Amino acid sequence: MTRTDQAGVCHDDKGAIIHVDCVSHKYPDGTQGIHNMCFSVYPKEIVALCGPNGAGKSTLLEHLNGLMMPDVGRVRVFGENLCKDNLSAIRKLVGLVFQDADSQLFSPTVIDDVMFGPLNLGLSAEEARKRAERALEVVGITDAQKVPHNLSGGQKRLVAIAGVLAMQPRILAVDEPTGDLDPSNAMKMERLLVSLRDEHGMSVVIALHDMNMAARIADRVCVVKKGGIIAEGKPVDILYNEALLASAGLELPTVARIYRNLRLKEEAADPPLTIEQLMDVIERRSP
Ligand SMILES: Nc1ncnc2c1ncn2[C@@H]1O[C@H](COP(=O)(O)OP(=O)(O)OP(=O)(O)O)[C@@H](O)[C@H]1O
Ligand SMILES: [Mg+2]
Repeated sequence: MTRTDQAGVCHDDKGAIIHVDCVSHKYPDGTQGIHNMCFSVYPKEIVALCGPNGAGKSTLLEHLNGLMMPDVGRVRVFGENLCKDNLSAIRKLVGLVFQDADSQLFSPTVIDDVMFGPLNLGLSAEEARKRAERALEVVGITDAQKVPHNLSGGQKRLVAIAGVLAMQPRILAVDEPTGDLDPSNAMKMERLLVSLRDEHGMSVVIALHDMNMAARIADRVCVVKKGGIIAEGKPVDILYNEALLASAGLELPTVARIYRNLRLKEEAADPPLTIEQLMDVIERRSP
């Protein structure tokens, strides 16, 4: 059953705009990428997929826009079962930024690369250029004439994100978005992802190992292990559960570790997730 809300957005029964329903996918060499995976995305949220190397995060992301198709199970996007017939319509709605930015860039110049998607959507060259220029401005890339393969790893990632943003998707799925960014660009990336939710009403799915980033920006955290989701919930519930994180080869975020080591008699109802929240706790505790 699906329904359409006042904004014309189609949800399934529980309000999800993407529903990965018990999906399994085996690679041609026999490796099970994901197994019986169930995962949902809701409107205007940032959801973090956290898990160790090889857990199945990228495989799951690549199912969200039909880049990979399930062997078993189904993927519903805005109420439609993803299939060959609606693939191009769904790719307009769900933008995917690969873990390896290199594999996303192929045009002779940065601007051509970012215009490629909008042109493919059927926009005029003028409109595609406008969108591309806006997207490059958003990610802070100024040299639009540069050859993409001559960019640094971090710059390539920013151009790849611009290429997806220029298509104006409703949902952005990004794989390890800050892996090769310097601290300043990583913070910029975080702010960008938050602004996509807050200012553009998008949902953002992020695959990452960085628990600190998950603590700072996620609305919901899913722990991925051995091709499935072993736990999901509010960041405070997941990111303070040391045993759970350790069982998936992950660590407590730094803020949670410090807060635990403060050995407060009573824990706050909402333990801190950001440095600012932690500083508030410390200030309140000081005589
Ligand atoms: N093209 C492929 N062919 C065969 N096996 C693959 C392929 N891509 C991924 N796998 C396997 O599928 C499983 C899930 O891999 P996936 O790339 O989804 O993990 P991940 O959680 O994204 O890991 P990482 O954090 O290292 O990026 C792993 O066992 C991996 O070896
Ligand atoms: Mg991956």
